[in-house]
Amino acid sequence: MSESKIVKLVDESTNRSSELPLLSGTLGPACIDIGTLYKDTGHFTYDPGYGSTASTKSAITYIDGDKGVLLYRGYPIEQLAEKSNFLETSYLLLNGELPTKDQFSKFEHDITHHTMMHESLKDFFKGFHHDAHPMAMLAASVASLSAFYHDDIDVDNADDRKLAAIRLIAKMPTIAAACYRYSIGWPFRYPRNNLEYVDRFLHMMFEVPSEPLELSPVAAKALDLLFILHADHEQNASTSTVRLVGSTGANPYASIAAGITALWGPAHGGANEAVLEMLQEIGTADKVETAVKRAKDKNDNFRLMGFGHRVYKNFDPRAKIIREMTHKVLGELGINDPLLEVAMKLEEAALKDDYFVERKLYPNVDFYSGIIYKALGIPTEMFTVMFAIARTAGWIAHWIEQHETPGARIGRPRQIYTGADVRDYVAADKR
Ligand code: SDX
Repeated sequence: MSESKIVKLVDESTNRSSELPLLSGTLGPACIDIGTLYKDTGHFTYDPGYGSTASTKSAITYIDGDKGVLLYRGYPIEQLAEKSNFLETSYLLLNGELPTKDQFSKFEHDITHHTMMHESLKDFFKGFHHDAHPMAMLAASVASLSAFYHDDIDVDNADDRKLAAIRLIAKMPTIAAACYRYSIGWPFRYPRNNLEYVDRFLHMMFEVPSEPLELSPVAAKALDLLFILHADHEQNASTSTVRLVGSTGANPYASIAAGITALWGPAHGGANEAVLEMLQEIGTADKVETAVKRAKDKNDNFRLMGFGHRVYKNFDPRAKIIREMTHKVLGELGINDPLLEVAMKLEEAALKDDYFVERKLYPNVDFYSGIIYKALGIPTEMFTVMFAIARTAGWIAHWIEQHETPGARIGRPRQIYTGADVRDYVAADKR
């Protein structure tokens, strides 16, 4: 990272000024370091949605929203999607380099041998009503992991941090499958060490006591690819949440649980569930025009879920890959889902409409993914849980990076105060 030019900022009302360094990274826009602005000028900056604000330096993921570029540790998402697998991608996000064969074998062995959850944790589920949303159960269960591992979660110990990463990546599928099994009243399944990561998850999800599960290579490949595509995405809302919670010194399980709850929102990871509900509400391709009209109507809070992105003002590269994959997976599974036709018509109509073109609203990662999850037999309310399984790799990579950064401070934004001016207390009989 280089510090080159200086940006001089002058407040003409007070004639106070500040000379602010311009910081440049490997790729992307330069950033004005405003660290001394308040001291120099007495002013804060104001950017409530962080649209123009870099919250940290990071070497993990790079996004160019205008060009539709996404790199994990410098590798284009298209190449990782084609040549890698989720566990290898997780290793890359955590360690910064693709693993050698030996490194990968050790990583895979470590993950495989941390997949079980504590038997007491299974009892936690009994406290939930059977129709509890799986994201609620997931967030609560992951937060409770710190109750089982308090002896080795010294956030300042690199080995403890690494062990927490292994445990979280390993246990997320086990806990996620348990959330699903509990919601349908089926017994939990123990993770099978003889299966690979995704097959192991599918087995824990769908194997029933009465008959062996026939695993589908098509389903496993599709899910592994979706996990790669969802693994990380720079300083998105849930990752920023993990970093903010992590900056207080909170343990990794509490930090990741905070990320899970942030992801749940329909403006973020919850959009994949909302897209399926939207497509089902539209129902048939002939009702697409009406949906597009509603999405443009400011008096209607209906939005095209799975469309638009804070950073991508071009196609989300992940959406392109998932769109192609949807056709392939449904074809290979012999599934003809009418919702795919609705989705394609919706995309076609929106991309021709000035409202979406002017605002550079394109399909994002959530637009097609639900159609694939549905084809794999995953219920709609589990879609965001799938996103959380994958994003755990990115979240914990950012959490570790933050703890490895010297001089990292607690995140504590300021505000513009718009409340009452100072005033004296009024006795109750005088109000
Ligand atoms: C994810 O940040 C990440 O990287 C997230 C993510 C990741 O991998 O972590 O990529 C995953 O969260 C993808 C986004 C999933 N969310 C959705 O699909 C929900 C639908 N999309 C939106 O609600 C919205 O587009 C956001 C939340 C994604 C982005 O919101 P912004 O950047 O704050 O944009 P905005 O709300 O200010 O919208 C700008 C304009 C507005 O119209 P005007 O005020 O200019 O007239 O575009 C309109 C909005 O009304 N608009 C939409 C729209 N999205 C934006 N209008 C209709 N349908 C939509 N989907």
